[in-house]
Amino acid sequence: MAKMWQSRFQKEEDELVNQFNASILFDQRLFHEDIQGSRAHANMLAKQGIITKEDNALIQKGLQDIEWEIEAGKIHLDLRYEDIHMAVEEILTEKIGDAGKRLHTARSRNDQVAVDLKLYARKEMKEIRSLVIALLKTISSLAKNHLNTIMPGYTHLQRAQPITFAHWLMAYGAMLQRDAVRIDHLLEDMDTCPLGSGALAGTTYPIDRVQTAIALGFEGPMLNSLDGVSDRDYLLEALSDLSILMMHLSRFSEEIVAYCSWEFKFIELDDAYATGSSIMPQKKNPDICELVRGKTGRVYGDLMQMLTTMKGLPLAYNKDMQEDKESFFDAVDTVKIALEVFRPMLETMTVLAKNMERAAKKGFINATDMADYLTKKGMPFRDAYKVTGKAVAYAIEKDAGLNDLSLEELKDFSDLFEEDVYQAIDLLTCVNARQSLGGPSPKAVTEHIEEMDAWLEEQE
Ligand code: ARG
Repeated sequence: MAKMWQSRFQKEEDELVNQFNASILFDQRLFHEDIQGSRAHANMLAKQGIITKEDNALIQKGLQDIEWEIEAGKIHLDLRYEDIHMAVEEILTEKIGDAGKRLHTARSRNDQVAVDLKLYARKEMKEIRSLVIALLKTISSLAKNHLNTIMPGYTHLQRAQPITFAHWLMAYGAMLQRDAVRIDHLLEDMDTCPLGSGALAGTTYPIDRVQTAIALGFEGPMLNSLDGVSDRDYLLEALSDLSILMMHLSRFSEEIVAYCSWEFKFIELDDAYATGSSIMPQKKNPDICELVRGKTGRVYGDLMQMLTTMKGLPLAYNKDMQEDKESFFDAVDTVKIALEVFRPMLETMTVLAKNMERAAKKGFINATDMADYLTKKGMPFRDAYKVTGKAVAYAIEKDAGLNDLSLEELKDFSDLFEEDVYQAIDLLTCVNARQSLGGPSPKAVTEHIEEMDAWLEEQE
């Protein structure tokens, strides 16, 4: 089919070039935004007297009909059209004649695609933000049920000090809350409208860019037309935010994978959120977590692709920028499904508190507390550390825990040990005593949860 821009050419486009050049097969996803942008543009043209009110009325009705027809699957968007912008304009012109041909006055596909994608990114990032908020609510209520569920905390994946399951969950709560705030910053940063930048150098028509910007829900217009058509910073920022968010979900997943294994068995996933093996009848695999971890690489890839696409581009628009869509769409789809599936998986999992406690009782995670006990009795911390280290070595030899050593045995290491040591190194005491701000004591974790709940309350 002859293209809109055909008049300057002697020949029709080669079929393979058409396939290679066209973006319609993927950018049709922008049809809502394309129509939204066109309607704001036409209203502005009419208000400025650039097109008549009658033409605008035809355009508005035509665009509304097209939106409904595309939604209802009545319009087939295929390679007859190069992209969604040309498709909408051509279909409109078929419907309403000359008025449709006036829509593109004082506009270019370059500012059109820029505004479409910005509107789409804003919508999707808001949706992702809501999914993060929903996940945070789940984390908060789970944490409230596990303030006293003792588990080992790890460094180097070696049992280190006692924490609670609530403390562990709220660490992910803190990360995800930052992700939501990062999206807020992005939405603020990207609140300017490129429409009216034209192809690159604005227009000679008396357009009102403030009007279209406000109509489309932006704070105001972008202030340089070259930048207006070629800026994709907000996509890079969004993809960075999504990469960090996926990194958090991936770490969360990594731990759940480990905690589901027989080696830990801290968690049992619900049958509906796990999968089996085709050969090993006993298997119950945490595939969701593995896929979230795996798909994180994919989102990083989307970010890298976009950074690389942009890095050598001269001002202003270049067709390379058509590559901005598939990677962003892919990242958005990936993050949304990951968040959607993650929440019910967490909600339905069984927390095996006894196993956590059993693990906490091994691995000398109360050794720091024993050293602190001696320190509080007057021994300098460095000496107390050495004494406790020796007691640990002795206990390992005996295949016992620190609590299992008799007072006599302990006294061999230091006279400062008294009967009250057993209370001091009891896991419950160890956790409860860690009342420093941000620590694992039920008191400190409750304060964190309350703070987060108050913040969640303020969110839409
Ligand atoms: N399909 C194009 C894109 O996605 C729209 C802009 C085309 N502009 C142009 N001058 N060829 O980027």
